Amino acid sequence: MNGWIKKDLKYIWHPYTQMKDCRDFPPIFIKRANGIKLYDDKGDFYYDTISSWWCNVHGHNHPKIKRAIKKQLDCLEHVLFAGFTHRSAILLAKELISISPRGLTKVFFSDNGSTAVETALKMAFQYWQNIGKKVKKKFVSLDYGYHGDTIGAMSVSGVSLFNDIFKELFFKSFKAPSPYCYRCPMGKNRPSCDIDCIVPFEEILKKHNHEIAAIILEPLLMAAGGMIVYPKEYLEKASELAKKYDVHLILDEVATGFGRTGRMFACDHVNIRPDFLCLSKGITAGYLPLGVTMTTNDIYDAFYADYEDKKTFYHGHTYTANPIACSAAMASLNIFEEENVLEKIKELIPAFHRSLERFRSLPVVGDVRYIGMVGAVELVKDKKTKKPFGFKERITLKIYKDGLNNSLILRPLGNVIYLFLPLCVKKNQLEYILDRTHSIINRITY
Ligand SMILES: Cc1ncc(COP(=O)(O)O)c(C=O)c1O
Repeated sequence: MNGWIKKDLKYIWHPYTQMKDCRDFPPIFIKRANGIKLYDDKGDFYYDTISSWWCNVHGHNHPKIKRAIKKQLDCLEHVLFAGFTHRSAILLAKELISISPRGLTKVFFSDNGSTAVETALKMAFQYWQNIGKKVKKKFVSLDYGYHGDTIGAMSVSGVSLFNDIFKELFFKSFKAPSPYCYRCPMGKNRPSCDIDCIVPFEEILKKHNHEIAAIILEPLLMAAGGMIVYPKEYLEKASELAKKYDVHLILDEVATGFGRTGRMFACDHVNIRPDFLCLSKGITAGYLPLGVTMTTNDIYDAFYADYEDKKTFYHGHTYTANPIACSAAMASLNIFEEENVLEKIKELIPAFHRSLERFRSLPVVGDVRYIGMVGAVELVKDKKTKKPFGFKERITLKIYKDGLNNSLILRPLGNVIYLFLPLCVKKNQLEYILDRTHSIINRITY
């Protein structure tokens, strides 16, 4: 164990980590990174197969993003965002409005994914208070949904492993079964089903719409819940129901935003108009923390009043709209255009998906799912019964360790192994990553 790691273990408590595991399996000391490779202190490298927790987009050490950050640093590193503003935030807000679904005309900045979600929840809640419909206070969210680790975001999440211990702290949120086709809550099969899982969702709205402020969803890909890819029709129907029952639709694109699904936003795959769009992670291409909540004129106008009317949105974070983060985000959006990023990945995606289909025949693979540059396999003990591996078996930990020995980061989500690739991955890198992942999973015996 090198000196840095000893000091790390002495002073640091890592997120989502059982620190006792670190005695045998300490964190890896990363010294530098370039493109999609992370280099450790011994000179070994790892492909950043999960985009450094789903935020890296164009690769590490990108010259254009570095240049933008340095330029911004030379003039303004930070300024409070109440009563003051700056060029990078204004340019970024204008650009986000131009690339996001029609009707989203206002940009509220914060500093991470959870705060982007908290902002949307609080705005949705206060909107109904401000217009006098004071009983509309509750939310609808999905089993397996994930929206962050703050109390509000957890209240509308549905990943029991992460959240159950905190349950008593949560506010009331109606939970609907999720469109998890492999383990269909209605016992049906895709593609022959009629999106029957929307029925219990509509029942909640039918019965409780008078007290519901908003629905919150991750569009098309429920990421932390197990990379669950779901049918577009579900999203379309959910959006129709939000309009029908007069509740807001909050789309959480913290994970799916900025090209991950093959389009700039996952909701671009369908023709819908959300009331809120939550963004973070890939917004700065993984260089700096930034959160954004976009909303409509209608919602903005419900807060626009004389001061004494008490309709002000009293919410904000110290590093809101940090200029360096905003300049990195603008540079990233320029790269999308200048380097034709979405067109380039269009060519890679079909081959990526075809390769993932090969995993289906492996003895422990129950399901294969993919969208854009995200692909996942769900491991099961018995393919026929879909019996999952037990929590204590830690089968995916073996895969994670084996992955690291093969320059891959196969950090699992329960029994799901996934790739969440930077959009700059090259064809030969993709082939290597998929071949190695395939042979690692193939070696699993139990
Ligand atoms: C869909 C979604 N929403 C919100 C969050 C929370 O973002 P952050 O970790 O930046 O607070 C995440 C994080 O993984 C996410 O995947």
